[in-house]
Amino acid sequence: MRIGRRQFLAGMGAGAAAVAGPWRIAAAAGTPIVLSAAPGRAQLAPPDMAPTAVWAYSGTTPGPVIRVPQGGRVRALLRNGLAQPTTIHWHGIRIAHAMDGVPGVSQPPVEPGAEFLYDFTVPDAGTYWYHPHRQSWEQQARGLAGALIVEEPEPPAVDHDMPVLLQDWRLDETGAFDARGLGSMHDFSHAGRMGNWTTVNGEGEATWAVRRHERLRLRLINAATARIYTLAVDGLEGWIIAEDGMPFAPQPLPPRLVLGPAQRIDLIVDVTAPEGEDAALAILDRQGAYAAVLMPVSGVARPAPALAPTALAPNPVNLPGSLAGAATARLRMEGGAMGGLSKARLGEQTLDIRELVAQGMAWAMNGVAGMPMEPLLALERGRTARIALVNDTAWPHAMHLHGHHFQEVRDGRTGGPLRDTLLIGPRESAEIAFVADNPGDWMLHCHMAEHMAAGMMSWIRVA
Ligand code: C2O
Ligand code: CU
Repeated sequence: MRIGRRQFLAGMGAGAAAVAGPWRIAAAAGTPIVLSAAPGRAQLAPPDMAPTAVWAYSGTTPGPVIRVPQGGRVRALLRNGLAQPTTIHWHGIRIAHAMDGVPGVSQPPVEPGAEFLYDFTVPDAGTYWYHPHRQSWEQQARGLAGALIVEEPEPPAVDHDMPVLLQDWRLDETGAFDARGLGSMHDFSHAGRMGNWTTVNGEGEATWAVRRHERLRLRLINAATARIYTLAVDGLEGWIIAEDGMPFAPQPLPPRLVLGPAQRIDLIVDVTAPEGEDAALAILDRQGAYAAVLMPVSGVARPAPALAPTALAPNPVNLPGSLAGAATARLRMEGGAMGGLSKARLGEQTLDIRELVAQGMAWAMNGVAGMPMEPLLALERGRTARIALVNDTAWPHAMHLHGHHFQEVRDGRTGGPLRDTLLIGPRESAEIAFVADNPGDWMLHCHMAEHMAAGMMSWIRVA
């Protein structure tokens, strides 16, 4: 594989200086971490271009990396310095409902100038993230997102443990944020807003100096509003050890990794490229492969790669096991471009497609656009639930359930990795099962922020 740098639009990319972390890390002890959501500036484009106007948490995009031990407590004070309401959702954390950050469901929106203290414990180790849950097609697109890392009591031995938070920006040829296209109905009804520039941990040309045979833990996080990343490594060899935070027996790295919006994959990789060459984490797209992180190799960490890692301890998730007696539901995704949606309910009305579009709606689930008044399932606590997700549209969707992790049902049986977000291809379906053990009202929605805003929302109730 030949991996170059992505050219910045009109080919203005320049060689970047070697800078490897460290990122700002907020330790979650004592006084709360302050996350001030506010406009800021960030050097997203190459260094010869002007900084980009973004929305940042406490001055940076992504916001500070929050690290906390498993079972520990996160206290984070959100201060809203934006001109619109916001909230923070702690994606993938099996959290107490009041801290879930969904405006109108778990809390009122945090108005401009107001603040909200998030205070919760984290039951599961792994890679998680945080983002706004209001107008995320704008707030996330402008830069509001951050990594939340819950450390295992006995983490695997690695030389570096690094978040790799991917953000998809749409910039113009001067490097300025393209705000004009925000909220475009065309984006909403197609694949979502696609950017033209990816950053890793806020850097457009991330370059990490590494040594041969060094072992890295890479925590891939897709914080794009809509882009599905296809990734590959070069000069690195290793294993997938977890998805959406949840560990499993290390699996050899496949030739490509698909990471849907909001999904995470944890890798352990050894640098196998020789000294003087570059290893890379690459993004594959129609134009070819380009480096998301370029890793020039100099020096040798050890004479040979370390031994294969062992599986991490499982998180304390109740597995669905037997599906006999499970509560069942079916969620049919409809609409979007080429979807042929003719009408749907919106609130108490039934609207035809023209009226729906006039209300900013392009999608429906089970005939309802936007939040349904009734839950898809009302479950007593501890009940196993089984939901068929039927994608009757021409587009992929990244379906996310709050407050729980689920397994896929295959041939009538559960198994495989625990996930919180599942990518479902056009005209495909999947079935998920989980133990509804976390009381509250929990959203089940498409994580393509534009699809969610344009209708793809549902929810379940756990008593
Ligand atoms: Cu990552 Cu409902 O969200
Ligand atoms: Cu979608």
